[in-house]
Amino acid sequence: MFSTFLVSLALLPFAFAQESLDVKAIEAHFTQSHLVPDLFASFNPSALLSLDYAGVGVVQPGQLLTKEQVGPTPTVTVTPANSSVSLDGIYTLAMVDADVVGSKLPGGQTRHWLVNGVTISGSTVANSSATAITGYAGPWPASGSGPHRYVVAIYAQPSTFAAPAAYSQPNLPVGTFDFNAYVQESGLGPLVAATYINVEEGTTTLAIPSTSAVVTSTLLPSSAVQTSSKSTTASAPSGSSTSGASSINVKLFGFTATAASLALALI
Ligand SMILES: *[C@@H]1O[C@H](CO)[C@@H](O)[C@H](O)[C@H]1NC(C)=O
Ligand SMILES: *[C@@H]1O[C@H](CO)[C@@H](O)[C@H](O)[C@H]1NC(C)=O
Repeated sequence: MFSTFLVSLALLPFAFAQESLDVKAIEAHFTQSHLVPDLFASFNPSALLSLDYAGVGVVQPGQLLTKEQVGPTPTVTVTPANSSVSLDGIYTLAMVDADVVGSKLPGGQTRHWLVNGVTISGSTVANSSATAITGYAGPWPASGSGPHRYVVAIYAQPSTFAAPAAYSQPNLPVGTFDFNAYVQESGLGPLVAATYINVEEGTTTLAIPSTSAVVTSTLLPSSAVQTSSKSTTASAPSGSSTSGASSINVKLFGFTATAASLALALI
């Protein structure tokens, strides 16, 4: 009886450390991939978003996938970072192509998916009362244009949400738009959760600014990590360095060590 109590006490710090590590890991992925600042000025999610593609399974953030693998509509799940985050509101789901690292994108991002009015049922994104402005259109980067970063994000959609006229009717085809301007003008926010994947077609002849190899994060449950072991990392463009990756591993390790010492101190 008493020893059970001790064990639960010892496990407690681990549970909290694990939750904040997950959010830290996805934040680190967005910085490593230059999505911060290429797409988002900053990224402070309150939940974790994951994509499950039929035939692939749950994908890792930054995982390199083929256009065939990302053809079917994925199942999107969103789980709160901790028990004080509630996900019972109305949300907008979007997938945009932020192109290759360092893109300036004068025409804005390519809209591959934009659904207003989704809800989160259990942890699965449900669309029964939603409006698909642009229905899911899988990534299809031009051959030789390099690894494109496709971001899937979910924003809070407050009752004051008002889509700009150009994006208020369903069935708009894939097209470019200024995603951040859309978010701001329509009154969406805050950004609740996001992940991204890399999709590349053919081999690039472009010189793409270097980025770090993507680290296998603690984002996914271990069962999901096992199913996607075929390809858990995205290959970085040539000439890239992995120094960013190792520093993040060290940081995560440091955090785990702190949790372990805390647990020991409690015993
Ligand atoms: C829960 O997560 C939110 C969003 O990441 C954070 O602001 C808050 O401090 C966290 N609360 C606890 C108790 O960890
Ligand atoms: C809801 O999801 C299903 C399955 O992916 C899809 O066929 C349907 O078009 C979606 N509806 C909306 C409004 O997004």
